[in-house]
Amino acid sequence: MSDAWAAVERAPAKRLTELFAAEPDRLSRLTVEEGGIRFDFSKTHLTQELLEAFEALADAMQFDRARDALFAGEKVNVTEGRAAEHSAERGHGTPESVERAQAFHARMRSLIDAIEAGAFGPIRHILHIGIGGSALGPDFLVDAIGRDESRYDVAVVSNVDGAALEEAIRRFDATATLVVVASKTFTTTETMLNARSALAWLEEHGVEDPYGRVVALTASPDKAIEFGVDETRILPFSETVGGRYSLWSSIGFPAALALGWDAFESLLEGASTMDRHFRTAPLRENAPVLAAFADRYYANVRGAQTRAVFAYDERLRLLPPYLQQLEMESNGKSVTVGGQPVGRASSQITWGGVGTDAQHAVFQLLHQGTHLVPVEFVAAVEPEHGLEFDHHRQLLINCFAQGAALMTGKQADDPARSYPGDRPSTTILLDSVDPRTLGALIAFYEQRTFANAVLLNINAFDQFGVELGKEMAKAIDSGGFEFDPSTQALIERAFGPAAN
Ligand code: F6P
Repeated sequence: MSDAWAAVERAPAKRLTELFAAEPDRLSRLTVEEGGIRFDFSKTHLTQELLEAFEALADAMQFDRARDALFAGEKVNVTEGRAAEHSAERGHGTPESVERAQAFHARMRSLIDAIEAGAFGPIRHILHIGIGGSALGPDFLVDAIGRDESRYDVAVVSNVDGAALEEAIRRFDATATLVVVASKTFTTTETMLNARSALAWLEEHGVEDPYGRVVALTASPDKAIEFGVDETRILPFSETVGGRYSLWSSIGFPAALALGWDAFESLLEGASTMDRHFRTAPLRENAPVLAAFADRYYANVRGAQTRAVFAYDERLRLLPPYLQQLEMESNGKSVTVGGQPVGRASSQITWGGVGTDAQHAVFQLLHQGTHLVPVEFVAAVEPEHGLEFDHHRQLLINCFAQGAALMTGKQADDPARSYPGDRPSTTILLDSVDPRTLGALIAFYEQRTFANAVLLNINAFDQFGVELGKEMAKAIDSGGFEFDPSTQALIERAFGPAAN
């Protein structure tokens, strides 16, 4: 395995412009078209030698075996002794897992039909409460494709800061609001507190049976029942679907409700197309795998600590925060599946923003700063808006210009006005931002994250790193525990000496 990494590290490095000059077929070899999306990796430093070295590394890491294990429902999440069956939600898994997912989807659909038929009265607002994977996915989906077509006004509240809930409910009529409580575990403190406050708000505003207005999305139905939600309004999903991979399950309920069932099915179909591609395409023609090769190259050979994702489309503005959880919670690990030190950089730090705004804020560093930051541009050919002027064309022109400028750079007599160039980027160009294409895009990111984990030999499906902070918060809350002087002083300053 270390030999395989050595070959990756040894591969000669050439400038991007030289690579284009030397390889007439570079663009076609490093472009993948799948699911209505063009993935252009040609402006990365991937060369024939590097691809061969990475294929050998994939071989050494038993990539095919690991991928088969994922789809076969093996317990790839070794630390928690669980499978990772999010792909079963879109038809790729064991017959049992696919059947189970379909049964849960059918239940979800029936509840949506009932809501639409007026079973809850005249619902106009959806207050979705959840955090992390139980919020980021639905929020992203509704924001991306629910702008014109949403049949309900949806607010997603995650933060325990009461200001977030207050802001959301300010515009809502309690008597026309459905409260959706999304939590895989149904124990997350922030979500439970927000749910209780939402129930109090319903009651204060004349809703006679507040609990009757609550729908629970969870893999722990017993906990939801304990909380007071009626069994008929619980939409379960499988324990083997991880939080940050859960938007395909009942966690996607607000999106399915707001956008309609057909749209939700298209989302699943788009993801299924990408799963099929990931399972069957040769590694060097496989979009998630090529992206993972580039990720590893920049993180492990060139020392890039971050990667930046810029959505050149307002509809995709929540993509960067969505990816931050997907990538950093999955692969921000220091040990291998066997518990040994991983020995090299694992997840890059994912950050980003929206173009063209970001050009006038952070792109200075990307062009002339001392950090190497691989950039990812995500754009769509079709605009959403109907403005007459040149908006969408200008948006895309800017996106393409930035990738070209990063690569070619520009020499000037004045060093301050020189651009070194040779800065890598990937361009992901969607035909349009519709449910099917978005499904393919999100599944691409999921499988890329998994491919990275396999190359690193880490478990992408646990997240123990978030636990210690939760325990400490509980200890502060319950008191009687002596913290370090700094923390102790902060506690006393905020709550007074008696609080702990
Ligand atoms: O604290 C991290 C985490 O467990 C995430 O992995 C998860 O998406 C989020 O909290 C919310 O968890 P739950 O859906 O159980 O409320």
